[in-house]
Order: sequence, then C-alpha cells, then structure tokens
Amino acid sequence: MKPTNLVFSLLLAALGASAATTLTVDLAQSGKPISPDLFGIFFEDLNYAADGGLYAELVQNRSFEYQATEQLNWTPLTAWEFVARDGGRGAVKIADAVPVHPNNPHYVVVETQQPGAGVGLANAGFDGIVVQAGGQYDFSLFARQLFTGNHWGGNGVLENPARFVVRLETKERAVLGETTFDVSGRDWQRVVATITATNSDSAARLVVLSLTKGGVALDEISLFPHPTFHNRANGLRADLAQAIADLQPKFMRFPGGCLVHGHGLGNMYRWKDSIGPVEQRRGQENLWGYHQSLGLGYFEFFQFCEDIGAKPLPVVAAGVCCQNADDQGGTGQRGLSLDAMPAYIQDVLDLIEWANGPTNSIWGAKRAAAGHPESFHLQYLGIGNEDNITPVFEERFKMINDAVKAKHPEITVIGTVGPLPSGEDYEAGWKFANAQHVDMVDEHYYEKPEWFLKNLKRYDTYDRTKSKVYLGEYAAHDANRANTLRSALAEAAYLTALERNGDIVRLASYAPLLAKQGHTQWRPDMIYFDNQNLTLTANYFVQQMFAQNQGDVYLPTTLTTAATNLAVSCVRDSKTGDVILKLVNIGAEAQSLRVDFSGAKKLAPQATKTMLTGDLMAVNTFGKHASVVPQTSSMMVGESFVYEVPAHSLTVIRLTPLQEQ
Ligand code: AHR
Repeated sequence: MKPTNLVFSLLLAALGASAATTLTVDLAQSGKPISPDLFGIFFEDLNYAADGGLYAELVQNRSFEYQATEQLNWTPLTAWEFVARDGGRGAVKIADAVPVHPNNPHYVVVETQQPGAGVGLANAGFDGIVVQAGGQYDFSLFARQLFTGNHWGGNGVLENPARFVVRLETKERAVLGETTFDVSGRDWQRVVATITATNSDSAARLVVLSLTKGGVALDEISLFPHPTFHNRANGLRADLAQAIADLQPKFMRFPGGCLVHGHGLGNMYRWKDSIGPVEQRRGQENLWGYHQSLGLGYFEFFQFCEDIGAKPLPVVAAGVCCQNADDQGGTGQRGLSLDAMPAYIQDVLDLIEWANGPTNSIWGAKRAAAGHPESFHLQYLGIGNEDNITPVFEERFKMINDAVKAKHPEITVIGTVGPLPSGEDYEAGWKFANAQHVDMVDEHYYEKPEWFLKNLKRYDTYDRTKSKVYLGEYAAHDANRANTLRSALAEAAYLTALERNGDIVRLASYAPLLAKQGHTQWRPDMIYFDNQNLTLTANYFVQQMFAQNQGDVYLPTTLTTAATNLAVSCVRDSKTGDVILKLVNIGAEAQSLRVDFSGAKKLAPQATKTMLTGDLMAVNTFGKHASVVPQTSSMMVGESFVYEVPAHSLTVIRLTPLQEQ
C-alpha cells in the first residue's frame, strides 16, 4: 500500500466502518437556516483562463501591447508575422504617435510599396484559430490611412480608398473564408465584417493583406466566433461558459486571487480600466506571466453572472499589493501612500455605484451606457486577498471598510485572514476582523485529501457571534496534484460539513476554475480545456452535485453507529419543499444504510438519485474518455428505506413533496 493510501485508510479506520447503520432525519422539524448562496465559483485569469480561454477573442495580442516586461522575448508584434504575397513588397512596424486611445498606445503600420497579391500580417491566435466550416466569424479592426510617405516612393497623396482582404487560412495558405474592406481617410475608423468559413481547420491563421500602395495604421484587430455564450458582443466562449453555467453556481468571484492585488502597486487590478469600449481599456501585465487585455472586464463578468444566475462577488485590493511582489526590489507587501488612499477608496465606492446606482448617477450612467440600465444587484464585495496581516494592511483595510459600510451598509464586506488555514496571519486576521466587525472573512486552504477528512469538524466550534466565513479558495491536493476521485470525495465529505455549518460558512468556492492545456501554471483545477475540447474533472462533478442540490435549511441527522466511513448531510430547499440527502462513502466497501425519514409521509415515493463513483485514484484525463461521471436514475423511497451506498462514492438523493391530487 502506498503511504498516502495507508494514511487515508487509517483515517477511515479512525472514522470507523460498520455493517448496518441507520440514518435518521426528522422531516417534521423546522431545521437550521443556512446560506442559500453556499456553493459558488472562483474565477481568476491564470492558466490562460481569460485571454485565450473563456474570453472568446481569437486574435492574440490584438492591440499590439505585448511587452518584454511580460515575457522576455515578447514584443508588440508577438503572435504576428509579416506577410508579402506574390510580388508584394513592403513592411510592418509598430508606432505610437497617434493611438486610437492613450490607454492602448501601440498600433501597427502596414507600409505597402508594391501590393502584389497582398502585403500585411498574419496572426496565429492562441495556439492556432479553430475554424468550423459554415461558421461565422465577426471580424473588426480600427484603421486609418497615412500619407504614402517618401521613403517607399510615395508622392505624399492618400490612395483613396486603401483596399484590404482579410482571410482565414490554413498554415499551407488554403483559404477557409475571406472578406474585403476599404479604409479611407486619416481618422481612426472602426471596420466590421463577417467571414463565413467554407472549410474547417483546427490551427488556422487570420491574415490581413493590403492590396493598395501606401501606408495604413491598424489596431485592435479582432475576430470572434459566432455565436458567443448568450450571443453577447465581446462575449465568452460558448462551450466553456456553458460548462460553468451547468455548475449552477450561486455566486461568482472575480478577478482573483493574487491577480487582484498584483505584484506591485502599479500592477493592482483597477476595475475602471476594465470597462467601456475595449480599445480604451488599459491592458496590463498579468502577474501569472502573460498579458491581460481586460477584454473580459467588469461589465462582462457582471453580465455573465446575470446570464448564469450567479451573484457577482468582485474582490478589490485592500490598498496593498501582494506580499510576494517581486518588482521594485522584491520588498514584498507595500501599501498605497495615505495620500493616494482617498482616490482609491472613491474607486471602490464608484464600483458599487456602477453596479447598483441609478442611471442618473455618474457611474450608474456608465453602466446604462454600456447597455445595462438595470442594477446588477451587487451584494458582496471582497476587500483584499490572502494579504499578510500587517499594520500597513490593517490601516488601509479599515479605511476602505469604514467608507463602504458608512455609505453602503447594505453591502456585505468580505475581509481576508491570510493565505493559510491556521498560523500567524490567520490568527491576526481573525482578531482584526472581529475587532472591526467585518461582515465575513475569506479563508483559503490547499491541503491534502487527508487534511480535509481530519478537519470535518473545523467549523462546528466557530463562534456564531463573530464574522461569518467565505471559504474563498480551497482544493484537496492529491499526489502529483492529480484530480483523483479521492481528492473529489475528500472535498465532497468536506462540503457536507460546510452544509452542516451553513449558518456561519456563507460562501465557498473551489479554486482555480480553469486551466488551458499547455499553459497550466497551477494544478489541480476544476476544468481543463484547449481550443476545441474541455475535460470536466471529478472535482467539477462534486461541485456540480452540491450546487445543483443546494438547500437553504439544514436538517440535523443522526447515525446510529457513532463512527462510520460515511459523511452525510440533509438539506431542504424551502422554495420547492424538496429534501436532499448527500451521502459520501470514502471507504473501500459498500455501506448498507437504513434511512429513516420520520414525518416523511408527504414525500413522493420516487426520488432522483445522482451518483458518482469509481476507482479511488481514477482521473478524467484530458483528451480521453472520462471515467468519473455522475449517473442519474430514479429510486423508490419511503419513510424508511435501505440504500446500499457504493464504495468510494458520492450520492445525492433528491426527494420531492407528494403532489396533492
Ligand atoms: O488559486 C490560485 C492562487 O492561490 C490565487 O491566486 C491565490 O489567492 C492563492 O494563493
């Protein structure tokens, strides 16, 4: 037996294993109200989760803003290639004299001396562009004509108009679809066109070719597949967004994670940079080592939340950058100067006004101008992420929290208690949060499966009169950081404990959510994807089974055997009256369980059973048939029934009220 398996087995022995166990739930009791928002999701742009991932933009480095500060070999022309076809002569160069917008300073100039069959540039997308025959692609760019100039033999007169062809091509230059457009005049203009593909390719390129002598500046060269999720403009990749929607998360946290506080004061995520026309957004270095275009910004996050029925949970920095910050001499956590704090606090207050304020308020009007006059009903706001609890942090957090609570007592503020489940920052963070009467605090832990099983009672003894808990980041990290069924079942057992403590643990989100093949910087994650496919892990299905079967009342349960390998919880959804039983068997043997529902006469005799089981070390490997997938069927139930809980399994039994005749 491997040491980790041995530890797991010893833990099971400590929990005990019994032959005949009775589970009693008194359905006549009113039960304990628990958070209706318990199971949500955590989104952070790491592992290429946003650009190249959930954000459906197919062109990489569309606005020529990649920099060597992001990756040493990067330039504004990274992902682009100069192209001259059949007698074409010319060049491309980067300029910044007259940008589309100062927040997006670089653009490309295509200088065509001799058009031939076209002079311009090609973009390889994020690991190629997937093109489907019959598919439509929304192409757009900004363009302006330049003087033809003297250095390539022009006469200083504008060729009017400048004609371009834009194509989707295979690497071998086979045309998959194309369209043409004209550019005339020296002012920036937005060009939009639709390309319909006649053939498919999994690694196509977008080629933009000038067919006219002269100089033309281009920027924000963009291509979106059609449709995006919910057919939104500047939208999200439909299959990935749907997989997230299928979780039925009750809330969505964004934009992180460490991305929020950034690796230096200049790298903090500033929400105002992420709204408005995309060409006006100030993209910046992503602390995970690449570029964030902010094309998927606050408006798109809030809109996505609305589309999937999740409450938005934005997190802003607590006026300090990440303690692991490695720029400016690697001095770790630093705070904004106290002079800078009033403006920073105003940004936070403006966020609340932008989300919820009336359309005649300054920021509510900007939301309305973006196409959403209705409130986004912001309820939760995170301040800080895993920050070390230092005087610098405490001073700034208090300033922000006080200002938010003074102006918006209706907002639930979520503070932070450091990166670990215990220790110095955890202790200091809790002490500070309680002293400040912070509504809720964000706990984080990435631990072994055994840790989760050992800590099932963690919240049973938390003081109910103090700050509530948001378990903002957690995951069971198994050997090799693999998404084993073992890790997922440890999480499932833990989630039953969260339901039991749903009066104090108000929110919980597994982390991270997304990881792109070839760009995965952190494991394990919930969903793995490439440009065409995605793999749902065992951990995903556990999250889904809990979130789809969330209740708002916890019904205490009794097991006749004091020790068992079962973790159990029972909740009621007061909207439907459904009673939902969750059973986790972490043992290697099936467990015969008699379920006694006293007062169950009003329940329908047929219930829905969803069950996830498999080999303890099974993993749904990317690109292979998924072996760990839940199965749904119906089963007969009654006031008392026996259920054989399979070894290594999670079962959700959903019982519905008997319909009156
Ligand atoms: O989830 C990945 C990272 O883990 C987050 O960015 C950070 O908050 C935590 O350390």
